[in-house]
Amino acid sequence: MTALSVSTSSAASLRADALVIGVGKGPKGLVVAPGAEAVAEAFEGKLAEVLSTLGATGAEGESVKLPSPAGLKAALILAVGLGEPSDEGYGQEALRRAAGVAARTLSGVKKAALALPAASAEEFEAVALGGLLGSYSYTTYKVSENGKAPVGELVLLTDRKGSKDVKAAVERAAAIGEEINRARDLINAAPNDLNPKSFAAIAQAAGKEHGLKVEVLDEKALTKGGFGGILGVGTGSDNPPRLVKISYTHPKAKATLAFVGKGITYDSGGISLKPAGHNETMKCDMSGAAAVFAAVVAAKRLGLAVNITTWLALAENMPSGSATRPGDVLKMYGGKTVEVLNTDAEGRLVLADAIVRAGEENPDVIVDVATLTGAMMMALGNRTFGVMSNSDELRNRLHATAEEVGEQSWPMPLPADLRKGMVESTIADLANMGERMGGGLVAGLFLKEFVADGIDWAHLDIAGPAFHEGAPFGYIPRGGTGSAIRTLVRFAEDTAKS
Ligand code: BES
Ligand code: MN
Ligand code: ZN
Repeated sequence: MTALSVSTSSAASLRADALVIGVGKGPKGLVVAPGAEAVAEAFEGKLAEVLSTLGATGAEGESVKLPSPAGLKAALILAVGLGEPSDEGYGQEALRRAAGVAARTLSGVKKAALALPAASAEEFEAVALGGLLGSYSYTTYKVSENGKAPVGELVLLTDRKGSKDVKAAVERAAAIGEEINRARDLINAAPNDLNPKSFAAIAQAAGKEHGLKVEVLDEKALTKGGFGGILGVGTGSDNPPRLVKISYTHPKAKATLAFVGKGITYDSGGISLKPAGHNETMKCDMSGAAAVFAAVVAAKRLGLAVNITTWLALAENMPSGSATRPGDVLKMYGGKTVEVLNTDAEGRLVLADAIVRAGEENPDVIVDVATLTGAMMMALGNRTFGVMSNSDELRNRLHATAEEVGEQSWPMPLPADLRKGMVESTIADLANMGERMGGGLVAGLFLKEFVADGIDWAHLDIAGPAFHEGAPFGYIPRGGTGSAIRTLVRFAEDTAKS
């Protein structure tokens, strides 16, 4: 894992293999960002000209390597693009992305110093977090994508090292960044290695490490408790399901949050089998569970003054002689009956049980996170998650929180008219499918049926952004991204402060 440190050394005198500077897009072409003064001087005022001649424009995502001129200790200069500045500077997200690009570009390098223009503690945290997230590489089955080890150490340059807020910013970035990277490892793990049982064991180990209470319901306990949704989804698999409860409490907490995560360790579709081309990445269907797991561990590491109960609804959705059939009726936890019309609409079944169970403890808010529908990807694309809620205020708050931390989201409605498609034409209380049109909203409406009266609930459908199949960009690698974790942590922080 890449180490983070802070130094007050000057950019010129710090011993490092590479020195990272920022460049922006000014009205008359490329401009050198604050923090790079020493480098500009060493280039005798020609730095912008050299970079422009090499084709750089200062656009976001750009990176250009230069050999270091005399007068600088680092052998290599890496200029990364920050885009167009506003009156307030380049902004946190541009800094996070630039630091991510730098960390990724410098894989194989032992020690890199970052001299990006971070003016406030928040911007400093953004650079630290972007660097940690950008350095990520999934190394369980091979060294890395390019055969090089992640950058060994990132040194963040500042002239205010001793100041409390800088220290706190780096600690926060480390707690959040390391937990996001851990969630990415879980998502990227092959589904023959990560199943409900092994996921539960990982949660138990993390509980021991961080001092969190972890309780696991195995298939026997689930049967005894009447968790028909989780059992119905898991029954086709040789790997039985689990419901994991992770509790974090703080003595000064005034509010209790419940986070619920969809944890389908592999979604084949079940008897309603997905066709080839639609199941190769379905190991990512536990990204919601990975997100809420990472968020509660990060909250504990940050010591947030809030209680958080996290529920991981874990199952493997497989076809077999013991699998749930389209047409079967399940008795859900809490007693509602559901006719399973499509076994590929399994996420809502495991979540429904967990949402009812979470509601029994009367939390102030329930937030569930799930790779729930292809329809949400159709609506919002691959980088934006949908936010649905039974409370307009909570939905707007989560959307705003996501924006603050640099995660793309959009508020989506739960139109009452779409409910009847799941209620009429079924022999049970509900069917697990309704109208095809607006499928992401139908799924949200299904979940809403299981929220106890009086509890504010929100649903984040992260089917798009959870797993990135293209080339890496900014601080987003190929594969598991850790979507929604930053939003959940900030939401918990804001709750703790209010
Ligand atoms: N896990 C999928 C949704 C998904 C699709 C996530 C692509 C990430 C990428 C979910 O279980 C599913 O199969 N949903 C169905 C529901 C339908 C059968 C009502 C869908 O969206 O097609
Ligand atoms: Mn499915
Ligand atoms: Zn699924």
